[in-house]
Amino acid sequence: MMNELPTPLSLPDGRMVQLRHATVEDAADLREIERQIIEEARSIVTDEATPIDAWRRDLARDKGGDLWLVAAAGTHAVGLLKLQRPAPRYLHHQRFLSVELHRDYRGVGLGSAMMDAAVRWSRDKGVTLITLGVLDSNARAKRLYERLGFVTCGYIPTFVRLPDGRYVGNSEMMRQLDA
Ligand SMILES: CC(C)(COP(=O)(O)OP(=O)(O)OC[C@H]1O[C@@H](n2cnc3c(N)ncnc32)[C@H](O)[C@@H]1OP(=O)(O)O)[C@@H](O)C(=O)NCCC(=O)NCCS
Repeated sequence: MMNELPTPLSLPDGRMVQLRHATVEDAADLREIERQIIEEARSIVTDEATPIDAWRRDLARDKGGDLWLVAAAGTHAVGLLKLQRPAPRYLHHQRFLSVELHRDYRGVGLGSAMMDAAVRWSRDKGVTLITLGVLDSNARAKRLYERLGFVTCGYIPTFVRLPDGRYVGNSEMMRQLDA
């Protein structure tokens, strides 16, 4: 199913990464990535790292119309891109995208490669709309999405309220694929 992926990928620094579907064995690595992102507080994942059993359950279940794409370096998962299908039938042409990489694998083009693979998978499945959300505090992610043709279609200036009372805005972005 993932035959169309450009895998293995060679990163600019010589490291090799494989794109594949997520498996239960990825639980601990994906939890560690989630933990890093919570600690950095630049994007919203959840308040606390998801318990390992919940990760395992989620990874084991049938993904239905979702894509859970992992970037693997050897036996370790170093990135996860999810395309989630909303439940209502009339929204099945859409997917909501989220992507997170281990901090040692950022800034080397892996995010772009995973996004490209996700777009190819979407076209293959007849998906015509990809949406996502990105905070003002996450300039790197926003830059990546814009470069890949995502446009801002909504903005909520008071989306996040920090403990000191300041707000952080959130852009809703979309990319339409040819119907
Ligand atoms: C966001 C993320 C997926 C991007 O993937 P990546 O492989 O690191 O992406 P890259 O760094 O190769 O590309 C990002 C772009 O932003 C640029 N960039 C890097 N740091 C930046 C900064 N502080 N401000 C603005 N632009 C920045 C890069 O130059 C690059 O642009 P270019 O390719 O046009 O030169 C990854 O960094 C990540 O997992 N971050 C933590 C989790 C997260 O924020 N997820 C997204 C939630 S919306």
